[in-house]
Amino acid sequence: MDKQNDQSRMDKIVSLAKRRGFIFQSSEIYGGLNGFWDYGPLGVALKRNVKDAWWRDMVAGHDELATLTGAPSPYEMTGLDCTIIMHPQVWKCSGHFDLFHDWMIDCRESKRRYRYDHLHGRWAAHRGKKVFVTTEASGDEAVPETVARAQKFFGLRAKQVDEIEWGGGLESLEQVIAAGSATLADTLGPDAAAPGSLTEPREFNLMFETRIGALAGDDDDRAFLRPETAQGIFVNFKNVLDTSRVRVPFGIAQVGKSFRNEITPRNFTFRSREFEQMEIEFFCKPAESAEWYRFWRDRRWKWYLGLGLTEGRLQLREHHRDELSHYSVGTADIEYAFPFLAEGEFGELEGIAHRGDFDLRSHMEGKLVRKDGELVVETGPDGKPRHRGSGKDLSYFDDVSRERYVPHVIEPSAGADRGTLAFLCDAFHEDEVPDEDGKPRSRTVMKFHPRLAPVKAAILPLVKKDGMPEVAIDLYRALKPHMACQYDEKGSVGRRYARQDEAGTPWCLTIDGQTLADKTVTLRDRDSLVQSRVPIADVVDLLRDKLA
Ligand code: GAP
Repeated sequence: MDKQNDQSRMDKIVSLAKRRGFIFQSSEIYGGLNGFWDYGPLGVALKRNVKDAWWRDMVAGHDELATLTGAPSPYEMTGLDCTIIMHPQVWKCSGHFDLFHDWMIDCRESKRRYRYDHLHGRWAAHRGKKVFVTTEASGDEAVPETVARAQKFFGLRAKQVDEIEWGGGLESLEQVIAAGSATLADTLGPDAAAPGSLTEPREFNLMFETRIGALAGDDDDRAFLRPETAQGIFVNFKNVLDTSRVRVPFGIAQVGKSFRNEITPRNFTFRSREFEQMEIEFFCKPAESAEWYRFWRDRRWKWYLGLGLTEGRLQLREHHRDELSHYSVGTADIEYAFPFLAEGEFGELEGIAHRGDFDLRSHMEGKLVRKDGELVVETGPDGKPRHRGSGKDLSYFDDVSRERYVPHVIEPSAGADRGTLAFLCDAFHEDEVPDEDGKPRSRTVMKFHPRLAPVKAAILPLVKKDGMPEVAIDLYRALKPHMACQYDEKGSVGRRYARQDEAGTPWCLTIDGQTLADKTVTLRDRDSLVQSRVPIADVVDLLRDKLA
């Protein structure tokens, strides 16, 4: 396996993503907009394939009569598509209005803003002067960055760097301040020349605000872009129950945009301000919820493996009890070793959370808090609910067992952009292949799973004459209704293979002299490089079978 965490590898992936039209910076001709990304011609197909694979595997193709491995019983799946702007009370009852914030810290000197939990640093001393040098850099870049900053702060030449005495390894600024082992007055901000320029940390709500209506003005017109798709599902729970034949246990799925005003968007599309989520809210009987939680955790883990993510780069991490949200009985994250992270670090692709009855009860009764181990409606100084719920009955009546209960929820919540980024990073390979003269040539190849590959097949006439283009065009037209394919007659066949390898096309079909004689084509496999002869008449069925 290639070295998995490597900034230079990430730089190559970002550059290929731009050069080949996978991902562009949003509004690039105006200098770009931090935290916003556009998908180009290949990228849009890749991301759509990720979302389609999720929808097909989790929802449309789900067999409601079968008991899947690890599931307590068969279950139903259905879908929704809700609005991005919802009634502001949704976010008050869900807790996002009061609690969905990060701590930020400003630098009075550089005028830059940082996420408090993203700053870390080291004590550095030189000739009686001591300072806690901080940086925002992560991975392999963090320690060299603190060295460079300390060198500049102490006014040293490169050969004097060894004179700096270091007080240990990198520590989180948040933790050293909480422990009292450093103060903000001792701290050199990541872009400051002198210590003491960082402000006290402040809360910053991550929801984007907007106003509804042309005459918007007072506080009642304030609305928010949804920071997750999940709440649209909870507030439609009753609508789905009343209008479809689903019975508990069942899941409602939604794919759509979410928005978070991240303080420091970073690492390509990993932490964006606008992104897409693929979420399921699975409603079940409270007594069965622990079993359903384990089922979904394992099912989602297998989904990533089934689409080809390297197992050694994936990690399933169960949260410790003290990491769990106040309403959660269990949460696991599926994480991927992205190349921009330090060796041994992983970034979250998806969280699978056991949420109990917190969400449905919040939208019935009002915002809940945990008091003495129980979830109770939070009240204001007047004793009234701080944020009033809808008052609608969201309980469920099981007409077989004749019981009424508020279903428990298991929530597998995945990021479509993070998933796409993981598939992009995992697919990136560099190797050597023989060129037309048999000499080794280095190649960049994107080894996407065929279901995710933006283009499934390329049809290449060996030369632009002797009737080969006509045969190739016929084959292209036969394949096109079944899968994304391209016709390419420009340049040498070696260059055309190289173009398709970079795009991640799993199969190339070459029409040559022999085709005209025996109606066979060469099928080249992107990964094994094996070339086999296949009757033209069999190509459509053969490739469709490979994709099934
Ligand atoms: N409803 C639960 C929920 O939203 P989350 O862990 O905050 O949970 C779920 O988000 C997934 O959404 C994450 O695992 C990640 O894949 C994606 N996600 C969250 N914030 C993101 C961001 N700023 N940029 C890109 N993806 C993000």
